Amino acid sequence: MARRPLVAGNWKMNGLSASVAELQKIMAGTQHFANVDVMVCPPATLLAGFAAAARGSRVAIGAQDCHPCPAGAYTGDIAAEMLKDAGAQAVIVGHSERRHYHGETDAMVRDKALAARRSGLAAIICVGETQAERDAGHARAVVRAQLEGSLPDGAADFALAYEPVWAIGSGVTPTPHDVADMHGFIRQMLSARYGDAAQRTRILYGGSVKPNNAAELLAVDNVDGALVGGASLKAEEFLPIVRIYG
Ligand code: 13P
Repeated sequence: MARRPLVAGNWKMNGLSASVAELQKIMAGTQHFANVDVMVCPPATLLAGFAAAARGSRVAIGAQDCHPCPAGAYTGDIAAEMLKDAGAQAVIVGHSERRHYHGETDAMVRDKALAARRSGLAAIICVGETQAERDAGHARAVVRAQLEGSLPDGAADFALAYEPVWAIGSGVTPTPHDVADMHGFIRQMLSARYGDAAQRTRILYGGSVKPNNAAELLAVDNVDGALVGGASLKAEEFLPIVRIYG
């Protein structure tokens, strides 16, 4: 089945209010790309401003994390409902940097995905193995456990992002063969759990996606788009990646 691709930029902890100029370049550069969904996920401080700036454009705005609860005594945290209220349409959950630096477990990631569903945000749920896990031959087992623990029951109403930890920010990517293998495995797991609905779930690849390797990675079977980190910060690098679908 043909799935509509999504290219999402994860800005991580980068960007100040002046960065709206970069968003505007991305908006201008994508306005004629009718065959691809485009998203920018800025830090929370920029969400409302970016959402206002992007209204009516082809660029959706997403957040990078949410708290599972709708409100409460959780200093410094942000509820999915608040992200939605600020204009976000989606939220990344379970990014390896959250899992690593903030000790997020699969159960926490699932609760965040459920919070996204509750608030009407599309969750982008991240999974991926470390270098040591791949070297030990455990890549599939690790991703299987993450999928079993992090995905919410019921609808397959989320996007998945396969981001091998060792490919993030390293300039190194898996071979197309390895990407095909893992994305096919993820599709199988989704189908076993959600049935036919899993055919509609987008599986993004993330980890050192750049203009010079994106065409090869995005052509792989079961790769329905990309979650782009560093190369999404500059329109001149992000646009050539989106344009592959344009
Ligand atoms: P890079 O594209 O900078 O490797 O980051 C990938 C990523 O973590 C996106 O969420």
